Formats: sequence, C-alpha cells, structure tokens
Amino acid sequence: MWSARRNSVVVSDAVIRDRKLGFLMKHEMAVADIVLAFPPQVTTTNIVQAMESQRRIGMLCSDLTMNIRPDIYAREYGEEAVAGRRFLNLGCGGYWDHPCWTGVDLEPANGVTWNFRRMEPLPIQDGAMKLVYTSHLLEHLTDAEVRFLLGDAFRCVEPGAFIRVTLPDFDLGFAAYRAGWRTFFTSVADYAPIDTGQSVGWFFLDMYAGNLPVEDGDLARLFSDMEPEVAMDVLRRRIEETDLADYAGHVNWFNCDRISRFLAEAGFVDVERSAFGQSRALVLRDTSYFDATAPEVSVFVEARKPA
Ligand SMILES: C[S@@+](CC[C@H](N)C(=O)[O-])C[C@H]1O[C@@H](n2cnc3c(N)ncnc32)[C@H](O)[C@@H]1O
Repeated sequence: MWSARRNSVVVSDAVIRDRKLGFLMKHEMAVADIVLAFPPQVTTTNIVQAMESQRRIGMLCSDLTMNIRPDIYAREYGEEAVAGRRFLNLGCGGYWDHPCWTGVDLEPANGVTWNFRRMEPLPIQDGAMKLVYTSHLLEHLTDAEVRFLLGDAFRCVEPGAFIRVTLPDFDLGFAAYRAGWRTFFTSVADYAPIDTGQSVGWFFLDMYAGNLPVEDGDLARLFSDMEPEVAMDVLRRRIEETDLADYAGHVNWFNCDRISRFLAEAGFVDVERSAFGQSRALVLRDTSYFDATAPEVSVFVEARKPA
C-alpha cells in the first residue's frame, strides 16, 4: 500500500481513486513524516493505526473550519448550479473531489481530464461557471499557457463571478533565499524535497525556477546584477528553452503583483490580495477543500469578471 516518494509517502493509485479516502491525503502525508522520522519502528499496523487517529483528528478539525455543505451552495447559487457542478477547479489534483465542483487535471479523481499545455478551450459553455478556483497550478505553466488558461477561465464564468488563485509567493521565497533561511523551503509539508544538504539556492530554484542547474555563486551574482523580477525572467526564459512536455516541477514564478497583472490582462477586475480562508465567496472559505496547500508559503489573490 505504501511507497516512498521524495520525503513523503504516497498511497497506491487504487486507494487515491477511492473518493472517500481522497480527502485523507493531507493526514496521510503527516503520517508519512512520522514514518520517515522513525523508519525502523514503523510497521504497517502502526501506519494504519496512525492513519485512523489522524482521520479522527481531521474530522474534529473540520468541525472547527467552515464546512460548507451542498445545501449552502444551493442557497447561494441555486439547485441547478449544484446539480451541474458549475464550480470549476483548475488543476484540482488527482485525489480532489467535491460534490458541487468540476475538477480539471491531468488525471482527476472525478472530473475533466485535460492538459493545459495544449492551450485548447475547455469543454465548457461560455459563462456556465459560477466560480473558478486554481491552487498551485499556474507555476507549472509557461506565461503563454497561463495567459491562455486565464483567458479561457474568463470565458467560462458568468459575469460577476469570482476567480481565486493561490500559488507559491515569490516575495516570501526570495526573502527566505536572501536571508539564507533553508527551513522555509525544507519545512513545506506538501512540497519539500528530501533535505540531503542542498543549498538554500537549490531549494529556491526548485520552488521558482524549474530546478535549473545554476551554481550558488552564479545565482547570487544574477541577483546582485539585476532587480529580482528581471533576474527571474532570465531564469524563466531559460526554462522555456528546454523541453517541458513531461516536466512536473515549477517552471514559473508569481507574486501578488505578477499574478494580478495576468488576471487583469485576462479581463478580470477588482483584483485584490486575499489570505488563507478569507475568500469573498462564502463557499471558498471552506478550508477543508480550499487554500490548504502550503498556505505558509503561498499568496492568495482574487478577482471577478465584470458584472
Ligand atoms: C501541486 S499540484 C496542486 C493540486 C491542488 N490544486 C492543490 O492545491 O493541492 C499541481 C496540479 O496541477 C496539475 N497540473 C500540472 N500541470 C498540468 C497540466 N499541464 N495540465 C493539467 N494539469 C496539470 C497536476 O497534475 C497537479 O494535480
């Protein structure tokens, strides 16, 4: 059932596809940390017991978060929107599933199978969607792909609808890199690569620049010669020159300003920095489904299609 992946443990595909267990992934990841900390002592029985207690903790915690049920969606948006799953999660993840939402991903548990690199319009009618949410996806796409996708998201939502975007915040990561703060990168539960003594520059490049093979000295020189945004665009273009077809890492970088510009370019208005759990759309405040990926290193931005 268990297999090692980077510094965490993943359950088999069969289990991930089980929708009831999908939402437990976060807790399983926490258990994975226990496994790594005490590998000789951990047995399958321990893991199953730990999973069970994590699940119970998760259920208790979810009582503390806003737990938005389908009837609340119906009250806010109408029965038809709920039945038609007219809420769009782009790059939802392979295990994510919500009874009201349409997830789109390379291999969604239940939704639209799609590759955003192809830059084709989604099979969704103009203005059909009530909300768009996208979490930790856009940093996997090039500028052209992001432009296309946000433009298509704009097409898919009805006038007045919100779009909410969250992804790794370059400003936070750059400050951490400048300060030599490795733990910023190694402690991100969802993404941290195994710490085998890599430099802070290596972790920084892994999070924002496709893990390009740039020596620490060259990276430091790049940032001393240019403004950070200009230096990052040099790195971004270098990544785009390589074959990205199967590359699963981060090939792009955003901070609040940069993602806000892309949203405005796509036609969205009222672009505002948001924060964990603080959406202007009530149903997006349900942190058991939204905003929960690496919030400590993320930026949250929201906008809307003009009414
Ligand atoms: C870091 S995960 C984020 C998952 C989820 N949204 C979350 O916040 O936990 C990135 C997701 O983007 C999807 N993704 C990356 N590149 C993609 C592409 N070209 N087309 C479709 N999905 C893609 C991956 O399959 C993965 O599920």
